[in-house]
Amino acid sequence: MAKPVKITETILRDAQQSLIATRMSTEEMLPIIETMDQVGYHAVECWGGATFDSCLRFLKEDPWERLRKFRDGFKNTKLQMLFRGQNILGYRPYADDVVEYFVQKSVANGIDIIRIFDCLNDLRNLQTAVNAANKEGAHSQIALSYTLGDAYTLDYWTGIAKRIEDMGADSICIKDMAGLLVPYEASKLVTALKETVDIPIELHTHYTSGVASMTYLKAVEAGVDIIDTAISPFAMGTSQPATEVMVETFKGTPYDTGLDQSKLSLIADHFRPIRDKALESGLLNPKNMGVDIQTLLYQVPGGMLSNLTSQLKEQGAEDKFYDVLKEVPRVRKDLGEPPLVTPSSQIVGTQSVFNVLMGERYKMATKETKDILLGKYGATVKPMDEDVKKKVIGDQEPITCRPADLIDPEMDTLREECAVYAKQDEDVLSYALFPQVATDFFKYRDAQETKIDAELGSKENGSYPV
Ligand code: CO
Repeated sequence: MAKPVKITETILRDAQQSLIATRMSTEEMLPIIETMDQVGYHAVECWGGATFDSCLRFLKEDPWERLRKFRDGFKNTKLQMLFRGQNILGYRPYADDVVEYFVQKSVANGIDIIRIFDCLNDLRNLQTAVNAANKEGAHSQIALSYTLGDAYTLDYWTGIAKRIEDMGADSICIKDMAGLLVPYEASKLVTALKETVDIPIELHTHYTSGVASMTYLKAVEAGVDIIDTAISPFAMGTSQPATEVMVETFKGTPYDTGLDQSKLSLIADHFRPIRDKALESGLLNPKNMGVDIQTLLYQVPGGMLSNLTSQLKEQGAEDKFYDVLKEVPRVRKDLGEPPLVTPSSQIVGTQSVFNVLMGERYKMATKETKDILLGKYGATVKPMDEDVKKKVIGDQEPITCRPADLIDPEMDTLREECAVYAKQDEDVLSYALFPQVATDFFKYRDAQETKIDAELGSKENGSYPV
């Protein structure tokens, strides 16, 4: 039955991550939050791995402080974050006690909806985070990393959706990070999922390949409950379809979002100069604004394409780009045909570069390639190539259990390691995810505080500069 479609706005997380390398500062966001809060979005996506990393590494901001400011400003709107399953917001699997504490603190600081995904769609890697979110009273959403390949049939997707519902997740997201879901396939997929489960279905895609708004249209007609969009100045290209366009598309139909265009236009006015500045500085590359048809042809996510380009540039081997692009699907097949999303996209991409540049496949293998072959990231949908296994890991026996079962509790050690810098409970979590980057940030923060103390001190002495 047709019903209004709900909108999740991505400007504060995915849109700025996809277009300007997650460099938007809290200061640039805060002035518009009150207006955003009046729109009536289903949720605002505002936090995740890249925003967390970028805050500490480039913007010299405390990501927890940013979240608290969002929470203060968004009085009516749900705040959503993206969570990499057992990898939390980082790049390696963590012990359950770290996952649980991270979820607890995220919710305590203001998160309402936790979107949890695993790069292999191995549901065992999501269970701890889902349980923790449910325990903290947050909405737990499991995102299916969408991809194409022999294994990824409608039966595969409906089977996994049923298991997600049984796991106790509150909703399912189809997470199409590369923009591979074309309109009529979306129609089939959403119809099949709606017939299989009762929990809401959300669709998240990127405009990279140029089909995204058509995909949303067909998905909405097929009954999808929520779509992810970005306010127009940071829409399209490698980001999401524009919020205003989707709102207008469904106006006056049974799918009408009910969102007010005049409010959306104020939000667009706020972000337009930020986009113009990013274009001027080169932070926003016009190349990311168009249609990248290679994504559809090679099924490689946009972010991965740009990583490959820069890796090859560093090696002075830009002429090997197409050789690497052809190697990517072969490596993916060798490794059990995983979806390509952080961190599997990096693992497959880097190994493909090695294979091409060394002139012999798997002459050199990265630690991550070894680990994925050893089962340390979890189970893949298809078996891995036996010859490749033999060449890379020899006689080592891969694990078959849930990878985190082999990781001892970590919180005590982590707390000890960063005790000298910690100023708040949450600091140990920043340290857990990005030990070096967080330590540098803590030192920077200490130096700033010393500076402020010194200035205040000199002010008291009457010598404060005027
Ligand atoms: Co995305």
